[in-house]
Amino acid sequence: MREKIVAGNWKMNKTLEEARILTTEVMGMVADEVKGKVKTILCVPFPYLAILKNQLGNSAVKIGAQNCSEHDWGAYTGEVSSLMLKSMEIPYVILGHSERRQYFGENGKLLATKVDKALAANLTPIFCCGEPLEIREAGTHEKLVKLQVEESLFHLTAEALKKIVIAYEPVWAIGTGKTASAQQAQEMHAVIRKHLASKYGDSVASEISILYGGSVNAKNAQELFSCPDVDGGLVGGASLKSREFVDIVKAMK
Ligand code: PGA
Repeated sequence: MREKIVAGNWKMNKTLEEARILTTEVMGMVADEVKGKVKTILCVPFPYLAILKNQLGNSAVKIGAQNCSEHDWGAYTGEVSSLMLKSMEIPYVILGHSERRQYFGENGKLLATKVDKALAANLTPIFCCGEPLEIREAGTHEKLVKLQVEESLFHLTAEALKKIVIAYEPVWAIGTGKTASAQQAQEMHAVIRKHLASKYGDSVASEISILYGGSVNAKNAQELFSCPDVDGGLVGGASLKSREFVDIVKAMK
């Protein structure tokens, strides 16, 4: 059975003090009922990882990073490697977020390497894909998203693929307040799962958690999460408010 997952992507937000408070609040509010049903993850800025991981302790809430380098070690000023994250026992890392693709020039080939590095370090990649508005309007979104998945994941063995979480995030819905409809989300999640099945077979594809991201909030979460191929959410803006984020987690269970 694939896991239900709600991950918060804090992006480049919060002071350390604010981050500590938000973490305490989320920990306190994610009640026992959610434990074992919905995996809850906070993907926080690099400098806060060790502190917040320590703060979370054995809590049901897990921690993740938002990126890692394609290199292991060396003269790459400002970078953080998967091996560093491994040494800190960080379990999750977001890879290929559209903001990384758009502002930092990350492409499918580079992301394939990052995925390999993350897996080699025992991290679970939350691999993001999704189309910009002009591609959606041109009607070629299925083709693009399939290509994104192919370029960065199709070199993996079935065993390795099973360790990946995929997040479908239409770029036009990220931070815009414009969510994909439940029908649009379901359609694309089914396209992704079918594409995985074409390469790895139905049983492998059915085990992969595919999260929806793009203006998920406490109001729309339940409808989105009720879609058969939507296994949870990657939540940006709404993950910065504890009450709202926890309501989204509860909408998944
Ligand atoms: P949003 O961001 O929820 O603010 O749209 C989602 C994301 O970028 O992962």
